[in-house]
Parts: sequence; structure tokens; C-alpha cells
Amino acid sequence: MLSREEFIRLSLETNLFFQRIMKEHLFFIETNLQPPEAENIAQANRLKRNFEELLAETLDYAERNGLSERAIRSNEFVTPYTLRAEEVSSRLTGASIDTEITEEELELFNNPDYNNEELLEDDIQDLNARSLNLLEEVIAFQRKLLNLSLQCEIFISLYDEMLEHLTREAEYYRDLLRSLQDRRMPRRTLCENLNFWNNILGEHAQFIDGMLDPTEETLKETAEAFVEKFEMLVRRCIRSSERQIIQRSIRATERIRDFKIAATEGLLACEIKSIILPLLADHVLREANHYLRILKMQLD
Ligand SMILES: [Fe+2]
Ligand SMILES: [Fe+2]
Repeated sequence: MLSREEFIRLSLETNLFFQRIMKEHLFFIETNLQPPEAENIAQANRLKRNFEELLAETLDYAERNGLSERAIRSNEFVTPYTLRAEEVSSRLTGASIDTEITEEELELFNNPDYNNEELLEDDIQDLNARSLNLLEEVIAFQRKLLNLSLQCEIFISLYDEMLEHLTREAEYYRDLLRSLQDRRMPRRTLCENLNFWNNILGEHAQFIDGMLDPTEETLKETAEAFVEKFEMLVRRCIRSSERQIIQRSIRATERIRDFKIAATEGLLACEIKSIILPLLADHVLREANHYLRILKMQLD
């Protein structure tokens, strides 16, 4: 049973990370659908804005009361690249991004100065409930698009595997919120949790590999090596000791994080040929940072 303080802190940290992730998924969908899909584009845009509103609200609560030191230092909410990646990606696609939220977040994390107001449990419970409702709508929308794409009824320049991946992340967030609303942590075994993230990170490497220009041979080879590495971690989890698999996952995740940092910098500097938006590179970088924090918490 989570205490009142734990419930509030974990809810804020979970929402601050995942609400941004969710609205970016919708941005990627919005910008990769084709003109005949005007209705679905408008729907993605609306859902994205709804998540932006929730994120602004979460940030408002987070400014009033503390997050954990570890969460603030994790670079999972915003990175030094996020704002610029948003500006470039919005300009290049013509789709909106509320960069003010990012500016405010950067300010808070660079200089944490909370008002230390008592937050009301009911307010956070309500925020979680509204996030859950919106999330249900987003999951249904993404599943619908995936089915249409599988039946070749729409053309979307995101891999089906990526639509599936985004939706699995949304479902993971939904499980977290449901557990938090019951004042507990999700019932997952260590391998269930690690395999979820090791699969996710391996798929990031697959997407990066598939979206790099064919002439970027060295980067593609590095990405392919990561695919194998994370597949091996998934296969081995059940046979390894807990400490061993956690430490191996940390090492692999730190390496792919560094690769993603280099990719984000290279894309922003226009030094890498690809069909990867800078915001997508920064997005997967934040997911690695989030996973690293989870892994390191397991060692405490
Ligand atoms: Fe994601
Ligand atoms: Fe992801």
C-alpha cells in the first residue's frame, strides 16, 4: 500500500514522463498520415493537444511540490536537446508543439525551487483518472490505425511495428495509472518488467536502423548490434541472477543512450542522412533515460 506522499510523488513522476511521451506519439502519427486521412490527422492533433493540457497541469502540480532528486537528474522528462528538437520538428512538419511547457520544465529542473505546498490527494486522483480516460481513447485510436494499416486501408509512413510499439507503451502507462489509483505498484515480475523495456529498446534500434539512409553504414551496423544485444538480454533474463541481468541491462542501456545522444546531436546538426525527425531521436533517448532510472532503483 502506497503512502499518501508516495502516491502523489509517483503519480507526478509517471504523468510527467508519460504524458509527454503520449503527445509525441500522436505528433508522429499526425505528421505521418497522408492527406486523404484528414479526419484521422485532426483526431491525432486533438488528442495530442489534450495530452499537452494534462501535461501543463501536471507540471503546475510538480512546481508546487517536490519530485525525487533521482527523477529530476534522470533527463527523462526533458533533455538538453528537447526544446530545439521540438522547434525543428514542428517547423519541418508544420504540426504544432507547445514549446512553452518545455521551457517551463527546463526552468524547473535546472533550478528546482518548489513552493512546498501540500498537494491534495483528491486532485492527483482526479488528474490520474482524466489521464486514464484520455489514454483509453488514444489506445483505441492507435489500434484502429494499426488495423487499417495492416489491411492496407490507409498509408502511414510509420512502420506497423512502430504503431504497435507506441500502443504497448500506452498500455504500460495505463497499467501504472490503474495500480497507482489502487495505491499500489503494478504486479510485475522482474523479468516481465525488464523484458518489456529491453524489447522496447531493441525495437528502437530496429527503427533507427530502418530509418537511416542506406549509405549510413557504420551507424546502421551499430544499430544492428544493439538489436542483437537487447534480444539476448530478453532471452537470458529467466536464466540469469537478478543482479547480473540488471547490471547487464544497465550497461547495454547506457551504451544505447550514448548512441541516441550522438544521433540526436548529429540530426540537429544535419550531419546524419535519415528519415528520422530530431524529436523522435530525443523521444527514444528520454525512454532510455527513464529505463536507466528504473534499473538503478532495482539495485537499491
Ligand atoms: Fe515512445
Ligand atoms: Fe519507444
